[in-house]
Amino acid sequence: MNITFSKFRLPKSGPVVFGIRGESRLCPSVIALDKASGGSVTRAIDVSHFKGVKNQILEIIAPHGLKHEMVLFIGLGDKCLSETELQDLGGFIFASIEKLKQQRATIMVDFGSNPAQSAAHIAYGAKLRSYTFSKHKTNRKKDSSKVKKLNIAVNGEAKARSEFKKLGKLAEGVFLCRDLVTEPPNILYPATFAAEVRKLKRLGVKVDILGEAAMRRLGMGALLGVGQGSRKESQLAVMKWNGGLASQKPVAFIGKGVTFDTGGISLKPAAGMADMKWDMGGAGAVAGLMKALAGRKAKVNAVGIIGLVENMPDGDAQRPGDVVTTMSGQTVEILNTDAEGRLVLADALWYCQKKFKPCLMVDLATLTGAILVALEKEYGGLFSNNDELSNQLISAGESSGEKVWRMPLSEIGGHFDKMIDSKIADVKNIGGRYAGSTTAAQFLQRFVNGVPWAHLDIAGMAWSEKSAATVPEGGTGYGVRLLDRFVKDNFG
Ligand code: BES
Ligand code: MN
Ligand code: ZN
Repeated sequence: MNITFSKFRLPKSGPVVFGIRGESRLCPSVIALDKASGGSVTRAIDVSHFKGVKNQILEIIAPHGLKHEMVLFIGLGDKCLSETELQDLGGFIFASIEKLKQQRATIMVDFGSNPAQSAAHIAYGAKLRSYTFSKHKTNRKKDSSKVKKLNIAVNGEAKARSEFKKLGKLAEGVFLCRDLVTEPPNILYPATFAAEVRKLKRLGVKVDILGEAAMRRLGMGALLGVGQGSRKESQLAVMKWNGGLASQKPVAFIGKGVTFDTGGISLKPAAGMADMKWDMGGAGAVAGLMKALAGRKAKVNAVGIIGLVENMPDGDAQRPGDVVTTMSGQTVEILNTDAEGRLVLADALWYCQKKFKPCLMVDLATLTGAILVALEKEYGGLFSNNDELSNQLISAGESSGEKVWRMPLSEIGGHFDKMIDSKIADVKNIGGRYAGSTTAAQFLQRFVNGVPWAHLDIAGMAWSEKSAATVPEGGTGYGVRLLDRFVKDNFG
């Protein structure tokens, strides 16, 4: 979809969209339309009881006396709209235009304290909602139901255009994440995922890929154990964006990249197993974030590390009961091969703090079904050993619209930590029946070596069965906007 900006002037034809504030009178362009239509616009407003309530919508199709195929009124309510509300509005407008089978439209923006800024966020929201994944459909060429062109009419259109350009970089990161998450697991496996990561080199990201031999030399027995049953070689992808001063310690983001999770020998039931193609949603978010940071040339040193493995049952797969040695030297008793994400992250986190001495680490992982029991799909679960970092993430969640909720975590040796003590090794990879998301986080904490760290359990967030304002159904791209905002607010 092509998005353009022009002066705030009523187009001569084509579908046109107006935002209407609750209490306000009609703006001059609507009055002009009403005149030309012999009063049929105001009559439609009256008859439909359109009051400009937030998200109320009035479609006037083929209005009498006008060349415009339709006039669309969208209620704005009477409160000032925040950035995310403006983005949601853009997404909502896009979806409405698509539903009405219009291939183009003009959105008239003369509201908000800063109309040019509002226009950019509306355009960004529309772009986020316009995402589709159709590469595996053979008849995608002749799709006439798609919106092809959206023009935003606003005073200060040059400013709006340049703001939108910056937001567009973030959208590209979100789209990369959605693409990766949606791609089927026979096509996206560790090596092909790594190949996608290598493409970020074009943007100035430094990329290093470690294969199994390199990881074996480093002693990453936990990560390698998970990939042991797969024909696909496990990979560790390291991305570096050096946009900050050389003296600045990097911020690090670590992602769980299980490209398919069958559960391994602790095999998952058949129903819903296909969902486990998106068990690399954390890794997808880290890749998308690095793309966004490089795209907008963020003034930060950032490291992204993703552990890429496929968890398969096989004659050579790891067994429940196995003991593996992690890169940290700690031994792990594997009691359930389906609790594999924490094993991958254990080595990735240890490697990260050891090699890059980051000022903080944030990991993202579709780690536990239990986080859905606690938070449904409303919040990502946040676990952290650091209050300041937690608050920064909570606040970035509020302002980006990708919300997180802090969950309990004990110190090492504390109540929840004891639940993962093993009888025959240092730690076991499952806790008890309860507090499943917390015991998973406790496991990770044993591998962060005291570095300020936050773990985001995004099992409920990476994929959605239903669309939201700026997120079509399917891969959501969750985490990219959250962490881009976190970086922007605290680093640059
Ligand atoms: N990838 C799953 C978690 C998951 C579940 C993600 C549902 C998205 C939706 C993870 O590897 C897993 O299988 N976790 C187990 C842990 C258990 C064996 C301790 C779970 O949550 O059941
Ligand atoms: Mn699993
Ligand atoms: Zn998993």
